[in-house]
Amino acid sequence: METLIPIINRLQEVFLTLGAEIIQLPQIVVVGSQSSGKSSVLESLVGRDFLPRGSGIVTRRPLVLQLVNVPPLEERRKQDNGNKCLSFKGLSYLAVRNCSPNCFIHLLNLCHPEDIETQVQEMILSYISNPNSLILCVSPANSDLATSDALKLAREVDPDGRRTLLVVSKLDLMDAGTDALEVLLGRVIPVRLGIIGVVNRSQHDLNTQKSLDDSCKDEQVFLQRHYPSLASRCGSRYLARTLSRLLMHHIRDCLPELKTRVTVLTAQYQSRLNSYGQPVEDHSATLLQIVTKFATDYCNTIEGTARHIQTSELCGGARICY
Ligand code: GDP
Ligand code: NA
Ligand code: MG
Repeated sequence: METLIPIINRLQEVFLTLGAEIIQLPQIVVVGSQSSGKSSVLESLVGRDFLPRGSGIVTRRPLVLQLVNVPPLEERRKQDNGNKCLSFKGLSYLAVRNCSPNCFIHLLNLCHPEDIETQVQEMILSYISNPNSLILCVSPANSDLATSDALKLAREVDPDGRRTLLVVSKLDLMDAGTDALEVLLGRVIPVRLGIIGVVNRSQHDLNTQKSLDDSCKDEQVFLQRHYPSLASRCGSRYLARTLSRLLMHHIRDCLPELKTRVTVLTAQYQSRLNSYGQPVEDHSATLLQIVTKFATDYCNTIEGTARHIQTSELCGGARICY
């Protein structure tokens, strides 16, 4: 597994550049309505502050986080001495990359405001309809689970719930006299891979710069006090362990098919490459020949015809990339 994760990460980088739609990599997709606590959950998983959070639309873009195992310094030293004794210790560290910094801004510019919701929904669907995506739904405890946008979307692409997990955030914000026990036990809406309650930092905690460590400790105290029977199966640390385990198993399960797919794609691209002919030594000379031939042909074509300049064809090869 220690070697697998970097490979998957590398593949992800490659396919984000090439177009992710040609291959379905295992990944965890976090879905939730605005301010449900997605960024907060990701931060508690990563174990450090790195995202903007707050009320309203804050994050504004899809993010790609990668699991990168960074061994403790001592182990790294041993490794440097040629002694490869890495052990995987759950979610040690996640490298953050913005998959497309301007993507969302582009969306906002390109479409009419009334389209934004549909556009975002389609974007989410494109991520979670990948059968190799685990779907991590985030729904706040202080709103009705039956109306959870995240669960609704997840159900569209994963009706059996085989790859859906639910995080119930904001346990601390429930009305006095109510609790989430029934929800957490799966009696309101069952979720196959599990339902995990968490308490993240509130806006006030963020404003007063409460540390993730302190937040995690307070979360445990809260869970012990309000949900003693479930405390060991709730909280950010348990969520990190669960996700780590699920992702490992998931990658292992996806692997055979992934390997086949990569082999098929390699063959396809190789034969396409072969169809372009032999590799050439002097690129400048060949390019010159091609350009000259194109220019001659082009002149011959337009000569004597009604001079239609087909700009569209010339531009046809260009792709607009975000
Ligand atoms: P996102 O829009 O889904 O990424 O949500 P954020 O993580 O930005 O959180 C939105 C707001 O809710 C922020 O002000 C957070 O501090 C707050 N928040 C998130 N989770 C919790 C929680 O478990 N308890 C409390 N009290 N506030 C939370
Ligand atoms: Na928000
Ligand atoms: Mg956010």
